[in-house]
Amino acid sequence: MQIQLSKTETSPNLTILPLFVGEKLNKNLPKHALADFKNRLGSTHLIYTDSSRVLLLGLGEKKNFKPESWRTATHTSINIAMTLGVESMDIVLPKLPTNQLEAFLELTGFALTFSGYRFDEYKKEKNGLKLKEVYLISPINAKLSKALTRGIALGHAANTARSLANHPGNVATPTHLAQHAKESAKKFGFKCQVLGPKEIAKEKMGLLTGVSLGSDQPPQFIILEYGNKNKPPFVLVGKGLTFDSGGVSIKPSEKMEEMKYDMCGGAVVLGIFEAAAALKLPVHLVGLIPATENLLSGKAVKPGDILISHIGASVEIINTDAEGRLVLADAISYAKKYYKPKLIIDYATLTGAVITALGDEYTGYFSNTKNYQKQFEKSSALTAEKIWSLPLAQEYKDQLKSSIADIKNLGEKGAGATTAALFLEYFVGTTPWIHLDIAGTAWTMRPKSYASPGATGWGVYLTVDFLRNNI
Ligand code: BES
Ligand code: MN
Ligand code: ZN
Repeated sequence: MQIQLSKTETSPNLTILPLFVGEKLNKNLPKHALADFKNRLGSTHLIYTDSSRVLLLGLGEKKNFKPESWRTATHTSINIAMTLGVESMDIVLPKLPTNQLEAFLELTGFALTFSGYRFDEYKKEKNGLKLKEVYLISPINAKLSKALTRGIALGHAANTARSLANHPGNVATPTHLAQHAKESAKKFGFKCQVLGPKEIAKEKMGLLTGVSLGSDQPPQFIILEYGNKNKPPFVLVGKGLTFDSGGVSIKPSEKMEEMKYDMCGGAVVLGIFEAAAALKLPVHLVGLIPATENLLSGKAVKPGDILISHIGASVEIINTDAEGRLVLADAISYAKKYYKPKLIIDYATLTGAVITALGDEYTGYFSNTKNYQKQFEKSSALTAEKIWSLPLAQEYKDQLKSSIADIKNLGEKGAGATTAALFLEYFVGTTPWIHLDIAGTAWTMRPKSYASPGATGWGVYLTVDFLRNNI
């Protein structure tokens, strides 16, 4: 799908006319249609004229207009264009103040690329392939087309993350993830090194090794590096469980198939690297993805077992399904040993509890420092990737005390997202750190107003915006 700027309407197939509440149209359209259409956010009305189709698309009140409204509007446009089977469409961009246009075009490029994505590699019947061209009717200048190009690159990066995660577990194995990382590193211009099971054991990452024991797939520890090595790096850690059965503490069968998505954090880190390199961000980035399956076999780790972590701390395994925190702990320790992180950010589908707390629209945000929160919230608002701050409540720390080891991997019943975060904090120490529990947001089984079902690539756009504002 090509997306380009155009001064005049060019596509006879379909014209999208987004309208704020109260906005009048000087177009020659049936009067009643315009009078009845109230421009509420998300409402649509398709009008057939003699020569074309026009879609009225409500944007709601102009004063309430925000990035998510526009992502919803563009998503609706793409879906309707694909349903109609048209090859091209025009979108008449809403009139906005000039100083907002660049950011708006970046968002538009992102949103259209994001919404134009279909995962149909395994289907005979392909959807949406007909839509080839989208013209944005807008002012034109070099800055605006650059912004659009950036947005499109960001959209592609998010879609890469989505595809990695949408592939089934029997295809997207730890080795597949590592293979993709190597190819992507070559293509985009960053470094990639992969540690296999022997090197992981040699490195004494006993938690990652422990989680991998029940699987025949070898674990992979993927290390990415991009940019100027003289600067202290931002270290991005992504949970890469290519399938989480729960292990011996096995999960119920219902919805277990969704656990192929348990590597979304790792996929997002890869997406961020592709975007950072495509945009040539002047930052130093390190990416760490502990990748493994969590399965059962005669060799699998069992409740009651004790594993020795990378830093030598012993961990009593109470529940083998609390495996994400284990592999992340070793990756975080590795980050601290070999890099001097300016900030560690981790992305993990870590707990069902964060879904209970926040549902599927907000990522749970935990941090041991207030320093980055404002900027993170700004980037979140700008990209419509929503976060909600949750407490790293020290009151619950004692729940992780073990009578026979240094720490155990399970807290008590309440505050499950927090006790998981506290487990990570034990390994993070005082290094500045942001933990993103994306269990609710990394994929969706229902169509959202701005995203089709499947993996969402949550965090790619937000993080790139955050990074470029912290250079
Ligand atoms: N990958 C899951 C978390 C998850 C569950 C993500 C449902 C998305 C949807 C994680 O490894 C897990 O199993 N967490 C357990 C922890 C529990 C055993 C303390 C959970 O949340 O149930
Ligand atoms: Mn689990
Ligand atoms: Zn998991």
